[in-house]
Amino acid sequence: MAEIRIGIIINGATGRIGTTQHMANLLAIAAEGGLKLRNGDRLIPDLLLVGRNAETLRKHAEAHGGLRWTTSLDEALAGPDQIFMDCSATGGRPARVRQAIAAGKHIHIEKPTAPTVEEAMALARLADAKGVKHGVIQDKLFLPGFAKLMFLRNAGFFGRILQVRIDAGSWIFDGTTQECQRPSWNYKKAEGGGLALDMLAHWRYMIDRLVAPVTGVTAVMSTASPERVDEAGNRYTVDVEDTSHALLQLQGGAVGVITNSWATRVRREDTMVVQIDGINGSAVAGRHRCFTQAAVNTPEAFFGGGKPASMDFMAQWQEVPDTMPNKPPFRQCWEAFLRYVAEDAPYLPTLVEGAKSVQLADLAYQSVAQQRWMPVPELRADP
Ligand SMILES: NC(=O)c1ccc[n+]([C@@H]2O[C@H](COP(=O)([O-])OP(=O)(O)OC[C@H]3O[C@@H](n4cnc5c(N)ncnc54)[C@H](O)[C@@H]3O)[C@@H](O)[C@H]2O)c1
Repeated sequence: MAEIRIGIIINGATGRIGTTQHMANLLAIAAEGGLKLRNGDRLIPDLLLVGRNAETLRKHAEAHGGLRWTTSLDEALAGPDQIFMDCSATGGRPARVRQAIAAGKHIHIEKPTAPTVEEAMALARLADAKGVKHGVIQDKLFLPGFAKLMFLRNAGFFGRILQVRIDAGSWIFDGTTQECQRPSWNYKKAEGGGLALDMLAHWRYMIDRLVAPVTGVTAVMSTASPERVDEAGNRYTVDVEDTSHALLQLQGGAVGVITNSWATRVRREDTMVVQIDGINGSAVAGRHRCFTQAAVNTPEAFFGGGKPASMDFMAQWQEVPDTMPNKPPFRQCWEAFLRYVAEDAPYLPTLVEGAKSVQLADLAYQSVAQQRWMPVPELRADP
């Protein structure tokens, strides 16, 4: 039983998701003595932090027992580390991934992988041609509430699925009276901003796996706040949408509805809520909890719900208990990718899956521009 160190470059280590998810979960694996492989060997993540601010990097590195760090991506890619994680701001990601592929690194990156489906697929093909392994972060189905939806689906709870409805978002302040909670690059097209590009990346894989592959999309998008205040206190013009409504056709006839907005106020179970209605039962899940109503337990609500407070609709649902172990979602993403690299374990979310997510956003934008339904063609790695 050997201890094998695996070098991982974290580009964007000082960003929100870089620090709280990628660094934190990889360091947790290392602190537990590494990831145990099938043959008993232990794979120990050895991080190289890359970012723009030397002082912040140094602080992070020292806080975790002297990790390696650099402000030079070129220098990091020239070294022997095997895996490249890009979790820096979305803009410019394809160029960084191309550079890492050319350097022979395995690629494990944040969503969205590219601004257009063509660029996203080009990255997948380039990585295949170079013979490196590749993957994208698809964490949401590992959240306890959504994992329970998958459990219900796999158990056949829903019967024939009729529709999936996603209601997501919260209010993001514009920075004038209260600090904006999201970095300003999210509101600039050239820097990879836009709610649809950001969030449809998640909804695509969730709907594909929970219900059925998406075959068509039509969308309406809008911008609630055309001007915002950035981190330095300067006003800037927003050139992307902060609200997106999408209607989806799914293989087999089910329909998907996604309402996603950073200009909405939350009065529902969670900031992300997914409802699936099937002939045999329905389920509603937030990130942490999931409730069901089976066909046989469905009360009469058409007449029964007619008078104010005549029925307590919330009380008519049964919570799905916690019966499955649940590791943090990003930890599960990392463990799957590390096993794929180290022992060729089966792996689903490759850059082709990443491109499918980009494809949905790309076609939603085209639907807005052309004011029509867009078919969603199947994507394959081979050209
Ligand atoms: N999988 C998920 O659920 C999830 C959640 C949030 C963010 N993300 C993705 O992770 C990536 C980072 O998001 P975040 O919320 O951590 O962002 P962030 O702004 O907190 O971090 C971005 C990092 O990139 C660096 N950077 C490089 N070039 C930059 C530029 N031009 N402008 C601003 N920062 C720049 C910053 O220094 C910082 O370290 C994005 O691609 C985002 O889509 C994924």
